[in-house]
Amino acid sequence: MVVLGIESSAHTLGIGIVDNGKILANERNMYKITDKGIIPSKVSDFHANNVRKTLEAALKSAKLSISEIDAIGYTKGPGIGSCLQIGYIAAKSISQRYKIPIFPVNHGVAHIEITKNIFKMKDPIALYVSGGNSQILALLDKPKKHYHIYGETFDIGIGNMLDSFAREAKLNPAWGSNVAKTAIGGKYIQMPYTVKGMDFTFTGLLTNAIESLKKNPTKDVAYSLQETAFAMLCEATERALFLTKKKEIILCGGVAQSQRLQQMLKIISKEHKTRFAVAPNEFNADNGAMIAIVAEKLFNSKVKIHESECTINQKYKIDEVLVA
Ligand code: FE2
Repeated sequence: MVVLGIESSAHTLGIGIVDNGKILANERNMYKITDKGIIPSKVSDFHANNVRKTLEAALKSAKLSISEIDAIGYTKGPGIGSCLQIGYIAAKSISQRYKIPIFPVNHGVAHIEITKNIFKMKDPIALYVSGGNSQILALLDKPKKHYHIYGETFDIGIGNMLDSFAREAKLNPAWGSNVAKTAIGGKYIQMPYTVKGMDFTFTGLLTNAIESLKKNPTKDVAYSLQETAFAMLCEATERALFLTKKKEIILCGGVAQSQRLQQMLKIISKEHKTRFAVAPNEFNADNGAMIAIVAEKLFNSKVKIHESECTINQKYKIDEVLVA
């Protein structure tokens, strides 16, 4: 059972191939973001120009030909419309040309499922953190099996918050990962900390950090911002863990690559005698293998996908997805 997955929700075009849960290929081409941020039409042009090259690279590393693919998955959403459209059209074309089934996949579900797949986890609490998302999720059986959102950001995603700070602090490149590098050796400055139950907000913290740059060294502000934001995420996750009594925690999404966040969540897991897992970075950055993993699960579950469901949805919410 060989399944191909295409991810194109933002600036990364990823194509992965899996065979019975084993990852055979995971190729990526990334649009380089300038200081103007993501320009959707430019990114979708990039994906359109690179889809053939990325597909060929994935087939080459899996040592397969396209006619050996049994099913195909693509990212239905959430994401940037014009970018999602490229992955969708590519998947639809391959599906029709080779008469293989096609499966629409939710991007967030894919981030969770690939981590569960790698570590053979069954029923974890997931802290899903990326540019636009910051959510605490776990499976619920009722009314139908779905990922319930136990907590989430009320305003912006943590990744976008860290990137915005990096731009204001004139860090180059202006990425959250550069905030982490700048924070090394910094001293803590008091910052606003907003957790309400299992939800949280980041804009007040961001505004405060930008203001603090006027009177404090960038290193200290970067350190304090990161420590405060991650502590908020960890407190909310710990509360969800306590409520649900789950025995597994996973950290996933682009910001899951942060070593400091991994370290903080690991401490909580240890205190609660809970298993902790975070996938290698290539599977937390956007990638095609995670889409292929979910498409394969959908194929094996024998769930019927109607043609009308094979569309794109820029606001495809994770808790709308029925988990097969
Ligand atoms: Fe992502």
